[in-house]
Amino acid sequence: MSTTVLASLNTTTPLLQVERLHKRFPVTGRRDSFLHAVEDVSLEIAPGESLGLVGESGCGKSTLVRLLARLHDASEGRIVFGGEDLCETPALRFARSTKRHAIQMVFQDPTDSLNPRYTARQTIAEPLALLSSMGVAEQRARVQEVAAQVGLPSELLDRFPHQLSGGQKARVGIARALAVQPELLILDEPTAALDVSVQAVVLQLLQRLRRELGLSCLFVSHDLNVVRLLTDRVAVMYLGRIVEVGPSDQVFRHPQHPYTRALVSSIPGQGPRIKLAGEVASPIDPPAQVCRLYGRCPVGQDLCTRQTPLLRTVGNDARHKAACHFLQPT
Ligand SMILES: Nc1ncnc2c1ncn2[C@@H]1O[C@H](COP(=O)(O)OP(=O)(O)O)[C@@H](O)[C@H]1O
Ligand SMILES: [Mg+2]
Repeated sequence: MSTTVLASLNTTTPLLQVERLHKRFPVTGRRDSFLHAVEDVSLEIAPGESLGLVGESGCGKSTLVRLLARLHDASEGRIVFGGEDLCETPALRFARSTKRHAIQMVFQDPTDSLNPRYTARQTIAEPLALLSSMGVAEQRARVQEVAAQVGLPSELLDRFPHQLSGGQKARVGIARALAVQPELLILDEPTAALDVSVQAVVLQLLQRLRRELGLSCLFVSHDLNVVRLLTDRVAVMYLGRIVEVGPSDQVFRHPQHPYTRALVSSIPGQGPRIKLAGEVASPIDPPAQVCRLYGRCPVGQDLCTRQTPLLRTVGNDARHKAACHFLQPT
C-alpha cells in the first residue's frame, strides 16, 4: 500500500477534499448497466466546519457518506483527508489504517446500528479496543467521560439496547463515534428514526457538542430546518450530483438552482410552494450530457439536453455555486 502525503496541514488546508467522486453499482442481471448513485461530486470541509448534505430520498446521500467513511470503494475520484488520498487504500483494508479513527459515522437508526448483544458500555468501548492503544482501565475511563459528554447517565451503561429509549440509543451511537476523538464526524440522518420531541433534544446535544469540541461535521438530512440550524454550509444533491453549494443561510434565503428553489419552497413559511412536474428520472445508465432535472425543470431548455450544467459561482460570493445554465437573478 502506498500513501501519498499531498500537503502538510495548516488552518487554510481543507480537512477533507473530495475530487470528482463517482460510485456506480452494477445492475444485477444486466451486463454493462450501472446505477449511478454518486456522480462527479467535488466538495471540501474545512477544519471545524459543519457541512450539510440535503436532497430527497434515493439521491445518493448515504452512498456519498459511505464512500467517505470507506464503507464503499469509489468507482472514480479522490478523497483526500488530512493530506492523504484515502482511495489508495481499499475499503476492506482501510479498517486497519491509522486514519480509521479520524472519520467516524453516526448512523440513521440507532436500533439497527447497535449490536443487541452489547451493553451501552461495550458498544462505546468497541472502537477504543479496535482503534486505540488504550488499556482496559483507560478504555473504561474514556467510556465514562464520553458518556457524560453526551448526557448518558452512567447507570445506563450496563443496559442493552432494548432496555434503552430511542433518545438514549441515539446518545450511545453518538458516544461510540466520539470515543476515539475523530476529526470528522459524519451524521447520516441521525434523528430521522426518532420521535419529534426526542429529535429536538438530540439536535440540541449535537449543536452543543459541535461548539464544545470544534469538530468538523458532515450532516446529512432531508429536514432542511435541521440543516439550517446545524451547518455553516450546505450542499444540495439531486440524482447523484451536487446541484448547489454555499453558505447555509444564503442558500436557504436565496436558492439559485431550480431544484433548490423547489426544495426550499417546501419549508413552511417560505412563500408559495414550487412543485416540480413529473417523477425523478432513473439513476440507471443516465444519458451523459442531459441535465438530471430536465423534464421536471420549470426553466429547462434545449441546451439542457446537450450539456450537463456544472457548478459555477453565482452572485459575488465565490463560495455560492449552482449547476444550471439558466440561473436567474434574485
Ligand atoms: N449497495 C447498493 N447496491 C446497489 N444500489 C445501491 C446500493 N446502495 C444504494 N444504492 C442505490 O443508490 C441510490 C442512492 O441511494 P442512497 O445513497 O441510499 O440515497 P439516499 O441516502 O439519498 O436516500 C439509490 O438509487 C439506491 O437504490
Ligand atoms: Mg440515506
